[in-house]
Amino acid sequence: MLPTIEWKDDTVVMIDQRKLPASEVYVTCKTAKEVAKAITTMVIRGAPAIGVAAAMGIALGMRKSSATGTKQFATEFQRICDLMAGTRPTAVNLFWAIERMKRTFAAAAQNGGSVAEITERLVSEAHAIHDEDVASCRSMGAHGATLVPDSAKILTHCNAGALATAGYGTALGVIRAAAESGKKITVLADETRPFLQGARLTAWELVKDGIDTTVITDNMAASMMRLGHVDLVVVGADRIAANGDVANKIGTYGVAVLAREHGIPFYVAAPISTVDLHTPDGSRIPIEERNDREVTHMGSARLTPEGAHVRNPAFDVTPSKYVTAIITERGIARAPYEESLAQLVGSGQ
Ligand code: MRU
Repeated sequence: MLPTIEWKDDTVVMIDQRKLPASEVYVTCKTAKEVAKAITTMVIRGAPAIGVAAAMGIALGMRKSSATGTKQFATEFQRICDLMAGTRPTAVNLFWAIERMKRTFAAAAQNGGSVAEITERLVSEAHAIHDEDVASCRSMGAHGATLVPDSAKILTHCNAGALATAGYGTALGVIRAAAESGKKITVLADETRPFLQGARLTAWELVKDGIDTTVITDNMAASMMRLGHVDLVVVGADRIAANGDVANKIGTYGVAVLAREHGIPFYVAAPISTVDLHTPDGSRIPIEERNDREVTHMGSARLTPEGAHVRNPAFDVTPSKYVTAIITERGIARAPYEESLAQLVGSGQ
């Protein structure tokens, strides 16, 4: 599998997810500003991947800094953290990664580190965030695979795969781990309007892995469930509130309600960095509204008439009552989520 994001010779290199699957091209970011732009414009997307990109973007910005004294260096650091924080609002992994970089900076500065020493600490922290993300996806996969019956027909929404993380994936990590353990699973990938993460990215990843994958348009999911073509649903998350409400790609809520109606388990796979205990419930999660053009156009072709209003919320919130279980790298949480999530978060401290 090609790397989603890589630190290479003091640049940050990302596969351009806007161009997949038609072409596999890479974007090389030489500055923090270029990394921020890559996040905003969806060169890289997916909650954990955005967190890794922000951390690498901060490290890159400080590596390229011309500041000589620690005071000027600290001012620049704050400016770059603010730049990253302004890229996308919903995925909490972004803010989690920025906070981690801030703690690293503070610890290195407190120890009397020079500009060069602080920079080294920031670069190695960004690498650690990357590597830990891959490890946590693997662990999530191992936990999640225990919930997948042999020959399961699995529906997923959006792309929560290697492309959305530093590697292996969250929801697709569960699917990969089940397949690797010998289970004869098949996957239904929701196309995921308007950005088509399911049709373009999930299908691309799974086909490459030799996993039997069928793409459906989003409005086919209900019928597929009623006809018995779905045994379980597994999706990723951009932010999980303390009560277990889950923000994920627009359309996830509808899938969860449908799953409940048809008696199908609805699982969410996400790292602990996606759990936001400071947000009590889903109503407090900021939902990004993206550009109208994602809805009005397909490539350069206009789909909607001039003058029609458009809405483009990129995420929705699934109330925790629809969530059968939340799969994390530290284990599986079930309702009541206030207790189970707090326990899992606490177990790592
Ligand atoms: O707008 P995107 O493509 O960044 O949204 C991605 C999703 O909603 C994913 O399902 C989520 O980030 C989980 S990724 C492991």
